[in-house]
Amino acid sequence: MSKRQLFKLPSSAVTDETVYRARRRLLGAFAVSPMLSLAGCADAEVPPSTVVVTPEQARSGFRTREPLTRYEDVTSYNNFYEFGTDKSDPSRAAKTLRTSPWNVAVSGECAKPGTVGLEDLLRAATPEERIYRLRCVEGWSMVIPWQGVPLSAVLKRFEPTSKAKYVAFTTLADRAQMPGIRYRSIDWPYREGLRIDEAMHPLAFLATGLYGKPLPQQNGAPLRLVVPWKYGFKSIKSIVEIRFTERMPPTAWNRLQPGEYGFYSNVNPDVDHPRWSQKTERRIAGTGNRLFAERIPTLPFNGYGEQVAALYAGMDLKKWY
Ligand code: MTE
Repeated sequence: MSKRQLFKLPSSAVTDETVYRARRRLLGAFAVSPMLSLAGCADAEVPPSTVVVTPEQARSGFRTREPLTRYEDVTSYNNFYEFGTDKSDPSRAAKTLRTSPWNVAVSGECAKPGTVGLEDLLRAATPEERIYRLRCVEGWSMVIPWQGVPLSAVLKRFEPTSKAKYVAFTTLADRAQMPGIRYRSIDWPYREGLRIDEAMHPLAFLATGLYGKPLPQQNGAPLRLVVPWKYGFKSIKSIVEIRFTERMPPTAWNRLQPGEYGFYSNVNPDVDHPRWSQKTERRIAGTGNRLFAERIPTLPFNGYGEQVAALYAGMDLKKWY
């Protein structure tokens, strides 16, 4: 089964996460080695989960045997402060978010600015499935099968000029739909930003779904950024605005606590958060293990260093945290 075919499967065919995982393992095995996949079929057994993350990573030999985080955990243990600050708030409260119709305004240093509907925004890009880790700054992590499009494919269509050194993203901030906006926990709207070369990197991704289903509201429907080598707070949800800028744009957490959250926010086990260590993470995967999940060592750039470290060549990453 090709990636495209998998993408086109109706969501009913992939509702059960166990089925999804088994199918995904087979797909992963196909992607890695034809021999392995044949052996798997002959035994009528699911081969080990050697899932390829992206074609680019496949070429560089990247594999993962990590178990996926359960759909229930991905969709009920969330950070989305517009719907409350407790992990269980967004899955309960975000049902009020209307995700259609959805427009995204693209502006700033580009030749073709404009406000476009979601479908139109994604038109130029080929849908893909990618399994990426999400590492939250609070110390937990998940392994999630996302659907979406490469960020670069979407951005290029607006023809950023040579003055576009950064890309700024903004989340919807609508009091009527988002009960958390009443509280000034964050200087709304939630904002994030990337350097343009980070945004154009092949691993940067705009997610529209997970586990073969449309993105649930609590996970940032209908459009959410995924930057797998950065802490989870960079992956801004429910994006309504993209702006190309010459100057480094402000970001929500940096404005709130500049001493704790820098612009780059690359996952780095050697730079502690001022109030806790970042050396290990609580991997939420398997069943019933959210709070007591196994702690594993955190990898530089969340394990994607081979692909992204060159972006930061010569930079002191303790200074530019
Ligand atoms: N985006 C918005 N708009 N508001 C938020 O509060 N939280 C961030 C990020 N994106 C947040 C957001 C943080 S801190 C994390 S860890 C991730 O979303 C969590 O994504 P998840 O709930 O899908 O796991």
